[in-house]
Amino acid sequence: MQQKDDNLKDIISHAKEYGFVFPSSEIYDGLAATYDYGQLGAELKNNIKSYWWKSMVQMHENIVGIDSAIFMHPSVWKASGHVDAFNDPLIDNKDSKKRYRADVLIEENIEKIRQKINKDVAKGLKRFGDDFDVEQFKATNPNVLRNQAKIDSIEDRMRTALNNEDLEGVYNLIIDLGIACPVSGTKNWTEVRQFNLMFSTELGSVSGDASKIYLRPETAQGIFVNFLNVQKTGRMKIPFGIAQIGKAFRNEIVARQFIFRMREFEQMEMQFFVRPGEEMKWYEYWKEQRMNWHKALGLGEKNYRLHDHIKLAHYANAAADIEFNFPMGFKELEGIHSRTDFDLKQHQELSGKKLQYFDTELNENYVPYVVETSVGLDRMFLSVLSSSFKNELLEDGKTRAVLSLPYALAPYKVAVMPLLKRDGLPEKAREVMNLLKFDMNCIYDEKDTAGKRYRRQDAIGTPFCVMIDHQTLEDETVTIRNRDTMKQDRVSIQELNTIIGEKVSFNSLFK
Ligand code: GAP
Repeated sequence: MQQKDDNLKDIISHAKEYGFVFPSSEIYDGLAATYDYGQLGAELKNNIKSYWWKSMVQMHENIVGIDSAIFMHPSVWKASGHVDAFNDPLIDNKDSKKRYRADVLIEENIEKIRQKINKDVAKGLKRFGDDFDVEQFKATNPNVLRNQAKIDSIEDRMRTALNNEDLEGVYNLIIDLGIACPVSGTKNWTEVRQFNLMFSTELGSVSGDASKIYLRPETAQGIFVNFLNVQKTGRMKIPFGIAQIGKAFRNEIVARQFIFRMREFEQMEMQFFVRPGEEMKWYEYWKEQRMNWHKALGLGEKNYRLHDHIKLAHYANAAADIEFNFPMGFKELEGIHSRTDFDLKQHQELSGKKLQYFDTELNENYVPYVVETSVGLDRMFLSVLSSSFKNELLEDGKTRAVLSLPYALAPYKVAVMPLLKRDGLPEKAREVMNLLKFDMNCIYDEKDTAGKRYRRQDAIGTPFCVMIDHQTLEDETVTIRNRDTMKQDRVSIQELNTIIGEKVSFNSLFK
């Protein structure tokens, strides 16, 4: 854990040093759990958005994208259930005065038991190598079986308590498990209470309940209320999807771990409207599709796992998370939810407007069912950044900080450099820059030695450096250096666009 915490600290300081992420309002000592994306962070974020948008909207004939307002009519949140049910169960430690999410404390306890199982498996693997049958060991080893039974029993109690809104049951579980506050080390807890996560504000100049509105806690509702607008104007036929990228706001009590849990964040959500009764087929389809989308980035297949929800949100009949191996362990990156017809039916009831679809094949009107995919953009950013960041030991004994970002996501695709600041090399380098900049984001760098410049580009993840030297002036060739192999090749200027363009395009990811 120590190693992991240090790793996160290194990533946070690297992100700040190179202009990826800054604490918000830093000159006033910052604002808790709020961050600003700097000049490189904004580029990386935009590239992640493009990867998502292209794969959803451009690659699917039956998915379109919208951009709805953050402010919505207050009835939206009544209908969606967020006013009554968008709560977190909280518990305070009376000694440290620290506040925790009760379900997270329990899940962390489960994770500790799971680690014990993993340790036993690792021991077996070390001892018997390839001959070790992990599945058989898990099914027969008494230690593993005992620990798995413990996990099952805790999950069972937690599921029952949370689904029944039984806060005393959640409290009893924390006490029975002997969970102590990580700060004070004591088990001196308050009772568990519910806390609504929505931020509210007032519209216009009138104060009071009549003008109370909320900052949206999910982008999904902007899609639901536009379901008919889009279906009719886009002549969409079921099954079809509506995608959206935008800000969401939650008054998270336990907001920590850098950009993992923030109070203002961005979501990339897609609601897929299907025939009633076909939702589980599409739920399975989207779980697989979304997992493949993540894995195509090449951040390591072992870094992902699926986790079925213990407590279903008030709108879902099935839900799973795609979890990523973040510096602080496996945590939720994306949620895939089967939302039934809950939202459309609720809006239909409260607005008094029909939100139905006429299925010409079935000759029938119905309220469609919905399968949702919802991924946090900031969490995607952290998954990409944390798995790409390395301090690499080189053959000469020195180290280099390198961000091995997927090429298509890198803020700059190429750095153009003159070897010297004279002899007409800067002018030639500008010419090369002008040739490339229409197709890809380039950076010009002429300061310091070539070695230092290469290191600077490695640290921000630039996949290619193009060096203009005296030979360039004679034969129109340059050297091109690869970030990962550090190998240099001599190629003609005319070829640059094709060589680099192919490697950095999104096509390589979609393939
Ligand atoms: N519309 C469904 C929905 O909002 P969710 O599981 O609450 O579902 C979806 O959120 C995704 O949004 C999460 O998987 C996570 O990536 C991201 N997310 C949620 N809360 C967040 C927060 N406080 N900070 C950053 N990302 C968050």
